[in-house]
Amino acid sequence: METLQGLKRTDYCGMFRPDHIGQKVTVYGWVQRARNLGGLIFIDLRDRTGIVQCTFDEAIDKALFDRAFTVRSEYVLAISGTVRSRGEAAINNKIPTGSIEILADELRILSKAETTPFEIVENSDVNDMLRLKYRYLDLRRPDMQRTIALRHRISKIARDYFDDNGFYEIETPILTKSTPEGARDYLVPSRVHPGKFYALPQSPQQYKQLLMLSGFDRYMQITRCFRDEDLRADRQPEFTQIDLEMSFVEQEDVMAVNEGFLKRLFSEILGVELTLPLPRMPYQEAMDRFGSDKPDLRFGYELQNISHLVKDCGFQVFTGALEAGGSVRAIRVEGGAKFTRKEIDSLGEFVKTYRAKGLAWLKKANGELSSSFAKFLSEETLNAILEFCGVQDGDALFIVADAKDDTVYASLGALRCEIAKRLDVIDPNRYELLWITDFPLLEYDEEENRYAAKHHPFTAPKDEDIEFLESDPARVRAKAYDIVINGSEAGGGSIRIYSPELQSRMFRALGFTEERANEQFGHLIEAFSYGAPPHGGLAFGLDRLVMLLSGASSIRDVIAFPKVQNASELMMASPDVVDDAQLRELCIDIKPVEKV
Ligand code: AMO
Ligand code: AMP
Repeated sequence: METLQGLKRTDYCGMFRPDHIGQKVTVYGWVQRARNLGGLIFIDLRDRTGIVQCTFDEAIDKALFDRAFTVRSEYVLAISGTVRSRGEAAINNKIPTGSIEILADELRILSKAETTPFEIVENSDVNDMLRLKYRYLDLRRPDMQRTIALRHRISKIARDYFDDNGFYEIETPILTKSTPEGARDYLVPSRVHPGKFYALPQSPQQYKQLLMLSGFDRYMQITRCFRDEDLRADRQPEFTQIDLEMSFVEQEDVMAVNEGFLKRLFSEILGVELTLPLPRMPYQEAMDRFGSDKPDLRFGYELQNISHLVKDCGFQVFTGALEAGGSVRAIRVEGGAKFTRKEIDSLGEFVKTYRAKGLAWLKKANGELSSSFAKFLSEETLNAILEFCGVQDGDALFIVADAKDDTVYASLGALRCEIAKRLDVIDPNRYELLWITDFPLLEYDEEENRYAAKHHPFTAPKDEDIEFLESDPARVRAKAYDIVINGSEAGGGSIRIYSPELQSRMFRALGFTEERANEQFGHLIEAFSYGAPPHGGLAFGLDRLVMLLSGASSIRDVIAFPKVQNASELMMASPDVVDDAQLRELCIDIKPVEKV
C-alpha cells in the first residue's frame, strides 16, 4: 500500500470551482466510480464535501493510466494534478464541481476495497437492516453526511448561543441513581457493591437543580439520556438533550431565552426568520381543538365537540358515551368526500389503534349525503350537526364517541394528522412553532390508583392553584411548558418547586409516604433546606430538532449509530452475552427467561 508521504491535501473534493483552473492541486477521497472511455479514465473522487472528477489520459502518461485502470469503487486514493475546464459538452450541472476536472499526474492507492454490500449513493433504497449492519458504509452516503454535519452545526449553535447568554456547560454523571422521568431505567450492576445498581440518567434533572442551589445561576449541557421505553419513529432508548436550567427566573424568562435560541437556529440553519414571541396555547385548548398536547398547526381539521347536539339523539353509540361521562367529537375534512369506502374503512381501523370503538362518518357530495350513522338520527339532529360543523359539499365528517374523553382526543388527534398525510396537504417548507402551557400538574394513574406527576415531581404548581393541591388535585395546573414544532414535542420544561414545604405537599399529593419521599429524594429535600433560588429550565430533544430541521422522517437517520425497534444495535451486535467470569464478579446469576 502506498502512503501519503509528501502529498499534502490542497483542497476538499467538493470545493473546486472555475477559479481553480490552472492550479496544481492534491485531493484525497473514496472512489465513487471509475469509467474507462478508451484512452481516458474518469475517476469521481468523493469526500465529505462532494465529488470531483479526476481524469487520466493514456496519451499523456501511459504508466499512470494503467495504474488508474486497476482502481475500483470505494478505493481510497490520493490524486495530484492540474485543474482544467471540462469544455462545454462535458459540463455536469448536477454537481457544484461539474464545470472543471483535475487532469491527474500522480495517483496513490492508499487503500483497496472489497465490493461493498450496497452501493454508496444518495437516497438509496437499501433495506434498513443492511444499512444499519454496515452503518459505517451507510454513513458515507452524501445525505447521511449532510445530516450528521447539520447535527454538528445545531450543537455548535446551541453551545454558542447559551454561552453568549451566560450559561456554563457542566457535565453530570452517567452512572447515577434513578430519576423520575417516568420511563424504565437502564441499570448498571456495581462490582464493588454486589447486588447494587447504578441507573443511567433519564435526564440530568436533579443534578441541574442542585447546580442551581450551588449558585451556578445558568447551566447547559448537551447530554445523553437513557430511557427503557418502546421505540417509535421519534424515540430512541438513548438520545440527546440540549438541557438547561436557570436561577431567579419565572416561566416567561425561560421561554424567552429559548425562543431566542430557536430564532437563531431557524435563521442560521434554514434561513427562516421566526417572529417572537412564539404563540402560546393552554393545554386544554390544544386538547379541545387538536386532540393533542403537541398540535400540528400546518393544517386544520380541528375537533368540534358535538356532545350537546346528540345528547338525546337516540343513537346508542353517542348517547351511551355521554351517559358514561364521555364526549362525542367530530372533525370536518374539507374535500374529504373523495375518500372511498375502502379508505374510510381503513381510517376506522386506524382510530381503533387509539382505542376508539368505531368511527362514524358522513360524506356530502353533489348534494347527496352518505353516512354510517345518519339513519339513526332525526333529520333535525343531523342538520344541526351539519350546520354546527360547517359541512359543505365535497366534505367529510368523522365522529368518535367514547366514555373516555382521552380516547376521543387521542383517536381524533391522530386521525387529523393521518388524514393530512393521506390528502397530502402539509407544506414541507412551513414551520409552525408554539408553546403549550398550563399543563395539569398531576395525572390520574388508573393502574396504580393514584395521582402521578405529569411532568416530574419537582414541577411547581401555578400559584393560584396551589390551594387545590389536596382538595381537587386534578384542577391544579403546572408552571410547565412544551415547545411544539410541526406537531412534534421538541422540548419541555418547567419552573421548579424550591420550597421544602411545597415539595412535601407535592410528594403527599403523589401518594408518597414521608419515608419513601426521603428514601428516594432525601438528598434533594435536604438540599432545598440550605437556601434554594427560584429556578426553572427546559430540555430540547436534540435528535428531534435535527429531524425537524433536516426533514428526516426517522430519528434513526439523524443519529450516527442508532438502535433499532427492539433496542439492539446491529453493527456491534449489542446487547450481547458476557463471560461467566464477568457475571461472577458482579455476583449475577442469569435465570432462564420465564415463558408467559
Ligand atoms: P422531557 O422528558 O420532556 O423533559 O424530555 C425533553 C425532550 O427530550 C426529547 N425526548 C426524546 N427524544 C428522543 N427519544 C426519546 N426517548 C425521548 N424522550 C424525550 C423530547 C422532549 O421534549 N428533565 C426534563 C426537562 C426539564 O424539565 O427541564 C425532561 O427530560 O423532545
Ligand atoms: P353500528 O350501529 O355498530 O353499525 O355503528 C354505526 C356506526 O357507528 C358505524 O360507522 C360505526 O363505525 C360507528 N361507531 C361505532 N362505535 C363508535 C364510536 N364509539 N364512536 C363513533 N362511531 C362509532
